[in-house]
This record gives sequence, C-alpha cells and structure tokens, in this order.
Amino acid sequence: LSWSRLALSSSRLALAKARGRKLPFSITFILTHRCNFRCTYCAIPDAAGFEMSTVQFQRAIDELAAAGMARASFSGGEALLRADAIDLIAYAHGLGLTTSLNTNGWLTLPLLDRLAPVLDMLVVSLDGPGERHDGERHPGSFERAMATLDAARRKGLATATITVLTARNTEVIEPVLTLAERHGFWAYFQPAYEDCFAQEAGLAPGLGPALLADLSARLVQHRQLGRPVGASPGYLRRLARAPQFGDCSRCHAGRYFGTVMPDGVLVPCHLVSQRVAPVNGLSHPGGFAGAFHALDAPPTGPGCAISPYQESDLIFGLDPDAVAAALRKLGRELRW
Ligand SMILES: C[S@@+](CC[C@H](N)C(=O)[O-])C[C@H]1O[C@@H](n2cnc3c(N)ncnc32)[C@H](O)[C@@H]1O
Ligand code: SF4
Repeated sequence: LSWSRLALSSSRLALAKARGRKLPFSITFILTHRCNFRCTYCAIPDAAGFEMSTVQFQRAIDELAAAGMARASFSGGEALLRADAIDLIAYAHGLGLTTSLNTNGWLTLPLLDRLAPVLDMLVVSLDGPGERHDGERHPGSFERAMATLDAARRKGLATATITVLTARNTEVIEPVLTLAERHGFWAYFQPAYEDCFAQEAGLAPGLGPALLADLSARLVQHRQLGRPVGASPGYLRRLARAPQFGDCSRCHAGRYFGTVMPDGVLVPCHLVSQRVAPVNGLSHPGGFAGAFHALDAPPTGPGCAISPYQESDLIFGLDPDAVAAALRKLGRELRW
C-alpha cells in the first residue's frame, strides 16, 4: 500500500467530486470470464470470449492510473487461469496502486509466495462450511479455500470472504462467521442474482423481501456483537429494503468506480453491462481513461445488493459508517 499515492489520489478524488467530475478511482479488471468451476448460481463462464493480451491490460492499468486510479481489483471468471495474472497484479502494485484479488481458491495456495508481496487484500469465495460450500461450488474446494485463507494470513495478507446466499443456504451465516473468527478474515455476504449480467432478471428464486430483511437483521445483530461481518451498516440497511435496494441512476458506479471487461469494454458494473452503450478502451480515441469518461451513468433501476459495488457506492457517497468501517478495517490490518 503506497500511502503517498493514496493521499495524492484521494485529493484528486476530492477535487473531482467538488467539481462534479468523474474520476476512475477504483477499477476492477476482469481478466477472463473463463473458469475452472461451474458454481450453481454463476453463469459467467458461459460469457468467455476474446481477452486482452498482457500488454493491452498493462496499457489499461497505465492509462487509468494516470487518470487517477488508486485501487485496482482483479477478478474473473477465475483470474488465476491466466498465466499473467500475478504479473498484472504486480504491475499495478509497482505503480503504487492498492491491489486486491477475488479467487475461488483452487489454484491460489502454491502462488501465495508470489502474490503476497504485491497484494493488499485476498478475497476468497466461501459459500458455507464443508459440504455446503462444496455443494454450491466444487468437490474439495472448501478445504483448499480454507488452506489458502490460513496461509495468506500467515504471510501477512489481509483476507476476506464473500458468501453468496441462496434460498438453500441462509443458515450458513453463523458457521461462516465462526470460521471468520477462528481464521481471521472478514466475512461478506450477498444474495445470488439470477443473471450476473442482467439486473432486470432479479434475485435468485426464493430470495424474497422478508427473507432478505431477516438476513439483514441477523447480520446487524452479529455486527453489533463485534463479530467479523465485513458489511457496513449502510449495506445492511440497503439489504433490508429488498427488492428496492436503492437507485442505480444515483450510483457512483461509472463515476468513481467501474469495471474493465476481458475484451477491453468498460462498464459501470456487471449488472447493467448490457444496458449501457459499450465503450472499449482499446478503440476509444481517449484510450481507457477516455472510455471511462465516455461511459453512460447506470440506467434507472432498483440498486443492487452486490457487496463490493454497494460498499464502494457508500464510500464514494461519503456515508460516514461505510468510511469509518473501511478505515477501521485498514487500521486493524495495520495494527494501529
Ligand atoms: C464472479 S466471481 C469471480 C472470482 C472467483 N471466480 C470466485 O468465485 O470468487 C466474484 C464473486 O461473485 C459471486 N457471484 C457469482 N455469481 C453470482 C450471482 N449470480 N449472484 C451473486 N454473486 C455471484 C461469486 O460467488 C464470487 O464471490
Ligand atoms: S462464482 Fe467464480 S468460481 Fe464459481 S463459476 Fe463463477 S467465476 Fe467460477
């Protein structure tokens, strides 16, 4: 984590916000849609297609960093299927950016020695204890995910998990939090969407308003008890308002954070990616920074409950609880 870079980018962000201008502060790079898993609720691998080369991704990172990016997240599909994934993370780290990686934890363990020096946060999917996780994901994957989280902590990496909640597994909240306490990670939870690329398809069957309000109330309670719930109070309030979580057209996606797809297309987020005009950083005259600035704001919609997007939206909206929660986590990791 480069404090000078973060301070510089934060002051650029404050200036951009004061002037009502966009700035690509936090960008997720989807390195590939390919995946070695076929999780029950995920159709991302079906979207696999053209992927930018190493040099093209480096160009995207360079141009967005010059335009004010402070945080680069890497995800997929399974990002680690690309042989250059760690090189790209290292490239972003070398520019002084804060880096994170979302992974299913299958290929990660032997790569941790290379990842630890260039990564600020490792996020591993965890859909429940033992067989509950394996049933949603892949046989044997719970054991590997836990071994990865433990080894990452031993190497000093900050770790978090994301648990996708379906109508089948809402009871996993408590056991996942127990694992989080024992193994030292932050546990995030988010409801499953029927189609990650189409918010209009709604949440997965069975995730009605009463169930989500109950999930939110349980997480609020756990949070108040000091358990390692990653979500901020603002996210949990939005979760309780399902299915009208917020308002997409007011979201900071596409204004202060966004996503670069494997083919170079920029989108505010996955869920509205098919409802905004595609702008490709490879072909845009202003490159990736120009493409970000040319991006449409998200169309009208009911907001979403995707945890990283909502936490970002709350932080960029200067929600005091979300900012405080982010600082508290940073502080705990740095042992302030
Ligand atoms: C798309 S995955 C990519 C990273 C990696 N392959 C993994 O599984 O963590 C990022 C996160 O999105 C979640 N996800 C996938 N499909 C989803 C859906 N339909 N609704 C909500 N979250 C979903 C995954 O469980 C994971 O936590
Ligand atoms: S959730 Fe992740 S691991 Fe599972 S199929 Fe989707 S991209 Fe692959």
